[in-house]
Amino acid sequence: MIKNNITKILQLLIVNCKLLIVICTLLIFSCSSPQIETEITSPDERIKVAFNIDNDGAMYYNVEVDDNVFIDDSQLGFEAKDGLNLKDAFEIVDVRFSSEDETWEQPWGENKIIRNHYNDMAVDLINEDSIFLTMRFRVFNDGLGFRYEYKVTDIDSVIITDELTSFNIKENGTSWSIPADFDSYEHLYITLPINEIEDANTPFTFKTKSGIYASIHEAALIDFPEMTLGLRQSKDKSLKSKVTENQSSMFNIQSSEFKAQLAPYPDKKTKAIFTAASQSLTFKIPWRTIQISDKAVGLINSNLILNLNEPCALKGDLSWIRPMKYVGVWWSMHLGVESWVINDRHGATTENAKRHIDFAANNNIDAVLFEGWNEGWDSWGGRQNFDFTKAYADFDIDEIMRYAKEKNIEVIGHHETGGNIINYEKQLEEAYRWAKEKGINYVKTGYAGGISDFHNHHGQYNVRHYQKVVETAADNHISLNVHEPIKPTGLRRTYPNLMTGEGARGMEWNAWSEGNPPEHHVTLPFTRLLAGPMDYTPGTFDILFENTRNSPQRKKWNDNDKGNSRVNTTLAKQLANWVILYSPLQMASDMIEHYEGHPMFQFFRDFNPDCDWSEALQGEPGEYIVVVRRAGEDFFLGAATNGSAREVAVPLTFLSENQDFIATIYSDGDDAHWKTNPTSYMIEKKIISHNDTLFINMAAGGGCAVTLSPRN
Ligand code: NOJ
Ligand code: CA
Repeated sequence: MIKNNITKILQLLIVNCKLLIVICTLLIFSCSSPQIETEITSPDERIKVAFNIDNDGAMYYNVEVDDNVFIDDSQLGFEAKDGLNLKDAFEIVDVRFSSEDETWEQPWGENKIIRNHYNDMAVDLINEDSIFLTMRFRVFNDGLGFRYEYKVTDIDSVIITDELTSFNIKENGTSWSIPADFDSYEHLYITLPINEIEDANTPFTFKTKSGIYASIHEAALIDFPEMTLGLRQSKDKSLKSKVTENQSSMFNIQSSEFKAQLAPYPDKKTKAIFTAASQSLTFKIPWRTIQISDKAVGLINSNLILNLNEPCALKGDLSWIRPMKYVGVWWSMHLGVESWVINDRHGATTENAKRHIDFAANNNIDAVLFEGWNEGWDSWGGRQNFDFTKAYADFDIDEIMRYAKEKNIEVIGHHETGGNIINYEKQLEEAYRWAKEKGINYVKTGYAGGISDFHNHHGQYNVRHYQKVVETAADNHISLNVHEPIKPTGLRRTYPNLMTGEGARGMEWNAWSEGNPPEHHVTLPFTRLLAGPMDYTPGTFDILFENTRNSPQRKKWNDNDKGNSRVNTTLAKQLANWVILYSPLQMASDMIEHYEGHPMFQFFRDFNPDCDWSEALQGEPGEYIVVVRRAGEDFFLGAATNGSAREVAVPLTFLSENQDFIATIYSDGDDAHWKTNPTSYMIEKKIISHNDTLFINMAAGGGCAVTLSPRN
C-alpha cells in the first residue's frame, strides 16, 4: 500500500527533482521511524534536554533540572525574507548521539587546564523548502548549549529577519541584568523579579525560587548579530495552541518567556545576511547557552562558554601572547587634568611617557598604555578621522620605543576609532603592520561614538569588523584589549590574542558621572564576567579625587561631569578588584604619582596576572564575592562586598597540605566606610596553612586582598 503511493508520487513529480528528494525522505522516515528519541541528559544526569516538533513541524525544546521543569517548552527557528521557511514544516530525519570527556589547555585564562565533558545530540531535520537543519544540543554538568546548523540549496542568499528562539523560564525568581541596547553595555545593573524584566542583554543571570542559579548567553558569536532577550507576554505564547493535549499540561502561564532579539541592520528589518559561494549555503548560528548551578559561584567556575568555542586557530609558538600588568597615561585625561588632544595639557608627551616607563620598570609592572598619542583627537565628538600611523609631534615614538625596550617594558598602543569603522578599516593592515614594526605587541581599541553608515555597535556588520581586527592583529602577532566591544562569547579560546575588553561600565564612569555603586563590582562577576575577561581598570587610590579636583589644570570634557564625582568603594576594595575582576591585562589605573610610596601598592607589585587556576569560593550576585587564583606557587585572594559591611570566613583548604604560607592581608581599617572614610586600611602578615580559616572583615563598600606565598 505504502509502496503504491510512493510509486504514484514518483510518477507525478518526476519533473521536480528537488521536491522529489524531500518528499521521499519525509515518506521514508515517517514510515520507518515513527518514534525517534530526542532527549539527552548531562553526564551527571541532573540536566535533561528534550527537543521535539509540534503538529505543524515547528520546533521546540525544554529543560529539566533534577526532574523539575526548568525551561518550559520554548520555540525554536528563524524568520527569513522572501518566505524562506527556516522555522516549521520540519520532519525529523535522524538523531545522532555522541559524548566527549577530554581536557585541553589554553595559553592564559582563569584556568589553564579545562575539562570538556558533555553529551551531544544532533537532530537532523528537513522541510518542504529543502531546508536541511541540524539542531545540536550539548549538555554539560554546568548547563547546556544548542545551535542551528542550516544547509540551504539552490539559493544566492539568506536574509534573516527574526529569531524565534525562546527561553520560557518556568519559575519566577530574581534576576540581574542590564537592559538590551544594541549600541552599549555601559549601563547599571538592575535587580528585579524575572517576570518584570522587559528586555535584557546577556549574560542574563537569574535565581529561581527553588534556588537554581542560571545565566543565558551565547558562545562563539561570529558572523551574526548579538542576541538580547525580550519578555514575551503570556497571551502571545502561540506555541501553546499548537502542541498536543498531554504536552500542553507542561505550560505554565506564570512562566517568563523571553524571546531572542537580534541587533538589526540600519533598515531595522534585516538581522543577518548570508551569501552563497556555491550551489548551497551553510551557516551556523552561534550557540545559545544556559549555564546552570546550585550555587551562584558555580556560574563563575563554569567553563561552558569556552568549551563551546572552537580550539585555538593560531598556529605555532604563542609566547607572544602574555598576561601583563600595566599602568597608563589614561586616568588623568578622564579626570580632566590632562588631555588626549595636543595642547599645553597633553598627556602623551615623550617626557611623560618616559616617566611612566620608569615607574613601570621600578614597580614590577610589565607595560604602559598611551592614549592620545596619535593625530585625530582634535575632532573628538565629531566624525573622527584618526591616523593610526601618525604620532603627535610631541610624542617621539621611536625614542619612546627605544627607551621602553631598554627598560624591558611593553608599550600598549591605542586605536580609538570614534566608531568610524570605514576610516579604521582603510588603515587596518597598515596600522597593525606599522605598530609591529615599531615594537608594539599589544593594542587597546575603542569605538566611542556612532558607527559608520548608521550601523549599531552589536549588529552583524560590526561583529564582522571586530573579527577582522582580531585576525589582522593575530597576523601581526599583536594582542588586543577591545573597548566598546561586542560582548565576549568565548572567542578568546580560538583567538587567544583577543585578551580582554570592556563591555560594561568600567572605572572611567567614576571619573565623570555619579559612578558605579558599591554593588556594581559584586554583580559584574556573576553577569558580564561570565562572558569573559573585563578590562575594568581597578586601582584608584585617590578615591575622592583630592589631588585633582581643584587643580587649575582641570577642564571638564564630558557632559556627565557634575564636578562631584568620586570612586564609590574603599581603598582595600580597589585591591580586591584586581583579583576579582579577571583580566589577563590588568591595569593599575590611577595616575602613577598616587601610588608613589603608598604601602597598599605593594599588593599590585606582587600580583601575578598570569594565573594557572582560579576558584570563586563564595558569594551572591550584588552582595559579595570571594575569589582565589593561583599563579605559580603564589595565591591571590580577593573579597568584596556591596554597600553592607560583612564578615566572611574563608577555609583555606585550597592551599597545598604540609606547607606554611605567608599571608599578607590588605584590608579595610576598623573605621573604614566607602562613603565617609574610604581610605582607612590595614596591612597585616600572618603564617597560615591548609587547615586554617581566614576571617575577613569588610567595611560597607569594602573588600580585602591577600597574597599567599609559600614559606621556605
Ligand atoms: C572609552 C574607553 O572605554 C576609554 O578607556 C578610553 O579612554 C576612551 N574611550 C577614549 O578612547
Ligand atoms: Ca567605555
